[in-house]
Amino acid sequence: MSAAVRVAPSVLSADLARLAEQVQAVEAAGADWLHVDVMDGHFVPNLTFGPTVVAALKRITGLYLDTHLMVSDPGRFLRSFADAGSGGLTVHVEVPDVGKVLRDIRAMGLRAGLALKPGTPLEAAKPFLDRIDLLLIMTVEPGFGGQKFREDMLPKLSAANNQRRMSRLVFDLEVDGGIGPETVGVVTARGADALVAGNSIFPLPDPGAALRRLREGVRPAES
Ligand code: DX5
Ligand code: ZN
Repeated sequence: MSAAVRVAPSVLSADLARLAEQVQAVEAAGADWLHVDVMDGHFVPNLTFGPTVVAALKRITGLYLDTHLMVSDPGRFLRSFADAGSGGLTVHVEVPDVGKVLRDIRAMGLRAGLALKPGTPLEAAKPFLDRIDLLLIMTVEPGFGGQKFREDMLPKLSAANNQRRMSRLVFDLEVDGGIGPETVGVVTARGADALVAGNSIFPLPDPGAALRRLREGVRPAES
């Protein structure tokens, strides 16, 4: 198992009536980051959290807040999330003017992430790979937790890992959607080193134990 692989439980699957307790359970069990899914009901057909929830999380945890903006116009909200305490902001390559948005994120002192929907080829991200801190390969269609992992995304993940190695790039390679004990091995073998996991952690009776089990499934990246 590789110590460099980060686990980011997704609060989308947490019991919001017990948010502090659930977040503290995964923090105590060794979570590296906390993944916060922001949805605007337009870029994806669902609505979730805004900056006030990020600010509340900041008060209950010391974990880095890995904030995934599934919104059509992320540029409007960067400052609010930065002020609320997000550590990194990930925006989708499918939104207009994403190069400027990525620059603005870094200019605010945050880590800049770039996400690809399942239908978007890696080529769309290539112009930005030398100016991001994280590349997020969606392994489900964004919008909802608890969906089935898309195995057809594995070639894209391998291609991203190869590109990173060949070009000596330094971004984290994150996967999001359907990650659990059955899928953690195949994605880490292909180079994923940041794992978002919602449904395989929070709804379980012992989220901390679920996180540890997930980590046990990490495999070394194949070269
Ligand atoms: C989906 C979100 C995910 C979601 C993953 O649009 O981006 O972060 O929480 O949930 P699971 O792990 O349940 O597939
Ligand atoms: Zn997400």
